[in-house]
Amino acid sequence: MPRTCPTFFSFPADAPAQSAEAAAVISGLMSEAPSVSPKYLYGPLGSRLFDAITELPEYYPTRTERGLLEACRDSVARAAGPAPTLIDLGAGNCEKARSLFDALKPGQYVAVDISVDFLRHTLSQLQRDFPELEMLGIGADFSSGLRLPDAVRRDNRLFFYPGSSIGNFTPEQALTFLAGIRAQCAGAYGGGLLIGVDLIKPATLLQAAYDDALGVTAAFNLNLLNNLNALIGSNFAMGDWRHVALFNASASRIEMHLEARRDIEVRWPGGARSFRQGQRIHTENSYKYALADFKSLLTQAGFGRIQAWTDANDWFALCHATL
Ligand code: AVI
Repeated sequence: MPRTCPTFFSFPADAPAQSAEAAAVISGLMSEAPSVSPKYLYGPLGSRLFDAITELPEYYPTRTERGLLEACRDSVARAAGPAPTLIDLGAGNCEKARSLFDALKPGQYVAVDISVDFLRHTLSQLQRDFPELEMLGIGADFSSGLRLPDAVRRDNRLFFYPGSSIGNFTPEQALTFLAGIRAQCAGAYGGGLLIGVDLIKPATLLQAAYDDALGVTAAFNLNLLNNLNALIGSNFAMGDWRHVALFNASASRIEMHLEARRDIEVRWPGGARSFRQGQRIHTENSYKYALADFKSLLTQAGFGRIQAWTDANDWFALCHATL
């Protein structure tokens, strides 16, 4: 029977969890080297700003990966077997998974994203275009572990983690995360993972990709302060902060920070913190890998066979890893 509406599961933070989250944010802000989790970059506006980033001429990952998805989809489909369960981690606008539907012919599509309302909207539209395909939406933050409801089929699971979001974890966290995915692969075809990874390249290209001329990435980073104001009731003013993106070559990562334009005191119910002019809040890391190092991370996580596709410039890789 044609479906008109995807089934939706939401794992929102309950009240105690929400206050624990607020406490963790405040503790990050109060520390000597202030930092905030990059998950606060997202939300109704942040997800739209991220979508806009992917259209920027300087932001090469999305369009490079799009080409690689075309190149790999038939061989991934052969390896995945009939009617795989396609589990899209950080689905966003679901466009990348959609580009695989023809080749993969999934038996079930499961879209997971932290930005619940955005996902609800995009998945409902997608269900209208593919009424025969069973779709599940899961609104959840999977950064510290992925919990799947029983409605997610166990057959031939193909986890899909595109966009190089794995780079937003430290390598140690990435290993734990990949091992967790490996543990959830199952089925006659053994299951697998299709993952995008951003490769090391000249710093000038990286710098431009994370500090674009239009200022969209700056808006994306600054909007995190709006999300903090909503979560902890703080009075961050966007105009007091400047976006900074820099390549930390020794750690092989782009870092995003927010830098105080002047001496500022930020207040929230029950607390406050002063920032000196030039002082920074670290908001995101985006690790860049050598392909060989990333493959060895997959092997350490327990994956057996790994196939990789790269573009002509070796800027980005797609890896298909099976058990
Ligand atoms: C989601 N993630 C892979 C993006 C990245 O490139 O690290 C987030 C981003 N931050 C700034 N621009 C894009």
